[in-house]
Amino acid sequence: MNKITTICLSLAASFGLSTSLFAHTKNDAGEVKHSTEIAAVQSDFAIGNGTFLLNGKPFVVKAAELHYPRIPRPYWEQRIQLCKALGMNTVCLYVFWNVHEEQHGVFNFEGQNDLAEFCRLCQKNGMYVILRPGPYVCAEWEMGGLPWWLLKKKDIQLRTNDSYFLERVSIFEKEVGKQVKDLTIQNGGPIIMVQVENEYGAYAENKEYVSNVRDIVRENFRDVTLFQCDWSSNFTKNGLDDLLWTMNFGTGANIDQQFALLKELRPESPLMCSEFWSGWFDKWGANHETRPADLMVSGIDEMLSKGISFSLYMTHGGTNWGHWAGANSPGYAPDVTSYDYDAPISESGQTTPKYWTLRKTLSKYMYGEKLPKVPATIKPIRIPAFQFVEYAPIFQNLPAAKEDVDIHTMEEYDQGYGSIVYRTTLPGMSTKTLLTVNDVHDYARVYLDGQYIGKIDRRNDEKQIMLPPCKKGAQLDIFVEAMGRINYDIAIKDFKGITKNVTLTVDMDGHPFVCDLKNWKVFNLGVEYEFFKNMKFKPLTQQVFAEEERTPGCYRATFTLDKPSDSYLNFETWGKGLVYVNGVSLGRIWEIGPQQTLYVPGCWLKKGENEVLVFDIIGPRETRSEGLAQPLLDQLQVQKPLTHRADGESLDLKGETAVATGSFASGNGWKDVKFEKPVTGRYLCVEALDALDGKELACIAELYALDENGNRISREPWTVKYADSEDVANVNRSADKVFDLQESTYWSTVKGMPYPHAIVIDLGSKRTLTGIQYLPRMEKEVTGGIKGYKIYVKENPFQMNH
Ligand code: GLA
Ligand code: CA
Repeated sequence: MNKITTICLSLAASFGLSTSLFAHTKNDAGEVKHSTEIAAVQSDFAIGNGTFLLNGKPFVVKAAELHYPRIPRPYWEQRIQLCKALGMNTVCLYVFWNVHEEQHGVFNFEGQNDLAEFCRLCQKNGMYVILRPGPYVCAEWEMGGLPWWLLKKKDIQLRTNDSYFLERVSIFEKEVGKQVKDLTIQNGGPIIMVQVENEYGAYAENKEYVSNVRDIVRENFRDVTLFQCDWSSNFTKNGLDDLLWTMNFGTGANIDQQFALLKELRPESPLMCSEFWSGWFDKWGANHETRPADLMVSGIDEMLSKGISFSLYMTHGGTNWGHWAGANSPGYAPDVTSYDYDAPISESGQTTPKYWTLRKTLSKYMYGEKLPKVPATIKPIRIPAFQFVEYAPIFQNLPAAKEDVDIHTMEEYDQGYGSIVYRTTLPGMSTKTLLTVNDVHDYARVYLDGQYIGKIDRRNDEKQIMLPPCKKGAQLDIFVEAMGRINYDIAIKDFKGITKNVTLTVDMDGHPFVCDLKNWKVFNLGVEYEFFKNMKFKPLTQQVFAEEERTPGCYRATFTLDKPSDSYLNFETWGKGLVYVNGVSLGRIWEIGPQQTLYVPGCWLKKGENEVLVFDIIGPRETRSEGLAQPLLDQLQVQKPLTHRADGESLDLKGETAVATGSFASGNGWKDVKFEKPVTGRYLCVEALDALDGKELACIAELYALDENGNRISREPWTVKYADSEDVANVNRSADKVFDLQESTYWSTVKGMPYPHAIVIDLGSKRTLTGIQYLPRMEKEVTGGIKGYKIYVKENPFQMNH
């Protein structure tokens, strides 16, 4: 394709002609002339031959991923300047639908939500903008950015052609359009590209739906380059002919390999890594995640040396304020409040060693532009320890109750977030009885006549609790706290509260009688500061509480400041809940860690008195806090083991017959194993006999099992029964990483543990299998790549030696 033709094509794309982007290489001379004339008079960003074109000239996108709702508005400009001074030329951002339309039909694009102002600040500071308006965004954000009220239509099919879903998407996207459609580069603004949906290949195969979203977006952005982002392994599933395709992958990935298929299918496409993950997010109860700086820098260096565009996800992660942190799946793995992401710019806007190394590398690729000076950063301060002086016990401060025969979800009571108490009375029980809650979303504390009995934690798939004998009319309270809605995979349809029913199993002469509990009183506790503020507070004299004395409720303190600045409030001695400072919800806390402090931006603090209010559903061990100058993000107080092997336990495969034996070929990409004949069983074991590099590590990034028709079976019910070795010392390389649907995360054995290695998965039920698929790590050298393997499938659990 010659240059003039590509400009022509890019304009065709710009004006939304539905022609395939790469199909036409020739145009007639008259059209060419006309196009060049237009290009000369207006700004344009378009797709050229193997490159992007900015005003007709080749352009490499160096984008910094930033999410404005995660950054306090007064700090927006400083963060943008930090990115510019890092050597970036673009800001890549998501638009979270649920912050803009928290209530059905009520739109908010003001203050912290002022998308247009954020884009204008980017432009003011010499940055282009890539807009990613979803509607679904993932991003470790509540429900992947979708508003909870969509679930009030119980049978809704999210991210499909469901007419109600599409209708709401179209209304929302129109509102986004109203805000920023005049800020496209063609209109003199900074927006160069707009994304359609997000990694849809990891969700489903449905080109019709993606086309519908494209049309909705196109209606608001007539002349902008539209693109889709996906993984190299699945982008063809939903790739539309007239959209640009970009790839997402993390540091360490084999970059040529990541683009190989794209280059084959579209040799003329510009290459872009639309999310280059150089860090990762943290989940409650799991290790703090970090990723090495050298891998980030070498990856970016390699891409830029090859003219490949990228967006660094995240360049500055920021914070999941309030109740906005999402959760991952399969299983339920809620994300912490900090979205530091081990990014070059820390959660509070500090430059890190990663920042300075990356800046050095990017300075080699300034294409004639000058690297600006790094703006001043805000120095976090210490705030002397302070005591909480008032408290309001939760059970004395419940709102008015609703009455209901059967239990319903939060959404059905028109509640989006927060906690909910389900109360009923029990028949008299002379023996212990089993209480089953189907299902708790997400964490419950069970009380009988005001006495705490135990908790039910969805993360551990818990459902049951033993109740002591009780008198007729005893009061049962199930206090359920909702955490973030799942933001990934089909599980995003994540109702809160109790999703189905509560039963008692009574033993009658050796027969289990199961009865459904009825006649509930329901108390809805939202997340509004006003609700907590108006509770009836009493003076708090006790400061230290023994385990059995811990009292759920709202706790209030004040501290005074001469000069407000950023700080990290320490909640190491608290239980679980939400923190408000001067009425702003800073986010969730949970004693299990790894996060123990909450970032409080100085711009939300005042000279003089500041109020801290903690709604703690467990109750503190000590009622104090303080401001630290450094965050505590890696203090894990583990409640359950992170690994899947009991001490001294070993898998005994003697006497087992493998259903498949062989050697995996070297190199990246999926490897298939077909069994000679279908086998039925519930437990799947992959035994790794030796490594391709002859060393000791075994790693698996992803693993699937195939059914009778060769289709992947759902991994939703999978659990790890056993792994001989798991590297969880510093990062999370536990065996469940083989089915977390993330190609960049993996199970790794520990250094110093020789082969053979093995992993056993409980498929949840008996299945007929015809093969497996294995994805090695993404790195060029494929460290830990398995060579020899044996696969076993059994109906009953494998034999363990102790
Ligand atoms: C995917 C999504 C992002 C984010 C990252 C992980 O790539 O597109 O929104 O969730 O994973 O941080
Ligand atoms: Ca994985």
